[in-house]
Amino acid sequence: MVKPLGNGPALRLTPAHPGAALPVDGVEELLDRHGALFLQGYGAGADAAAAWARRFVRRALRTPFERVSHAIHRDLQTATKGTIAQDFHAEFSHLPHCVTRMVFWCDVPGNPNHIVDGARLVEALSADVRRTLSGTLLRFTALHTAAMWHAFTGVSDRESLETLARDIPGYSFTFLPEGGLLTHYLVPAIHPHPVAGPVLCNNMIPGAYSGLWVTHADGRPLADDVIRAVRDTAHALAAPIRWQAGDILVLDNTRVMHARDAQPAHRRLYLVQGWHEAGGDALPAGSNALNGNHGTSSVVVVR
Ligand SMILES: [Fe+2]
Repeated sequence: MVKPLGNGPALRLTPAHPGAALPVDGVEELLDRHGALFLQGYGAGADAAAAWARRFVRRALRTPFERVSHAIHRDLQTATKGTIAQDFHAEFSHLPHCVTRMVFWCDVPGNPNHIVDGARLVEALSADVRRTLSGTLLRFTALHTAAMWHAFTGVSDRESLETLARDIPGYSFTFLPEGGLLTHYLVPAIHPHPVAGPVLCNNMIPGAYSGLWVTHADGRPLADDVIRAVRDTAHALAAPIRWQAGDILVLDNTRVMHARDAQPAHRRLYLVQGWHEAGGDALPAGSNALNGNHGTSSVVVVR
């Protein structure tokens, strides 16, 4: 059965009969049109979830930091660890390897996640805020320790990193005295989506990532009332994801933002994230690289 999730456009899919297999036919089209699908009540185990996810994430990304891979299905990695709440964000939109798809699978339920459609969000903003953000480039500034960027990129010297990053639009970095990296990345506050139209789907709302600064391209701070308007509107439009074990959420990370409530320590939420198309620039399994994607990319292990 297919119904709107909250006020849509995301959908909630439930099995036609007990024990029904996860749907496959038509899923790609529904996802393209609606941005997010919550598959509830299928009771998927790790095998089924991992296989299903790889149908729709054809190039998966595993991050070597802050996530733990499932003991058997290595593409399944834990969602961000810890128990703190995170506000709305698009995964990795502050770095040039912004993924296009995320598939979450609930092993042990905790508290809800929430999603919001970035196109609905743009429509619901006041004309003033929309005008302020239209054509605005955001500058995301992030700090990576030496160990982090060495592991993500597979290189450890400055020249190699400069070569990898040279052709990524809007991306720049400076080396810090102790070997760390301060990165800057320019992202449009509102970007076009091929199906949904103008979309706000990025990390501009504080409280999603720690250690991340967002400003105008020239370094000026964003106005508090603009940030507050985006945040309040996102929360007003949000749909909750109330997990049961075996549920799956798949979303278009270029259109739909996600958030989570504070979590109990026993929660186990895994995800497969990556790109919906294998793409000509797919890298061999295990290779490390800065991966240019959508004119945005990142410092990660890609496979
Ligand atoms: Fe996230």
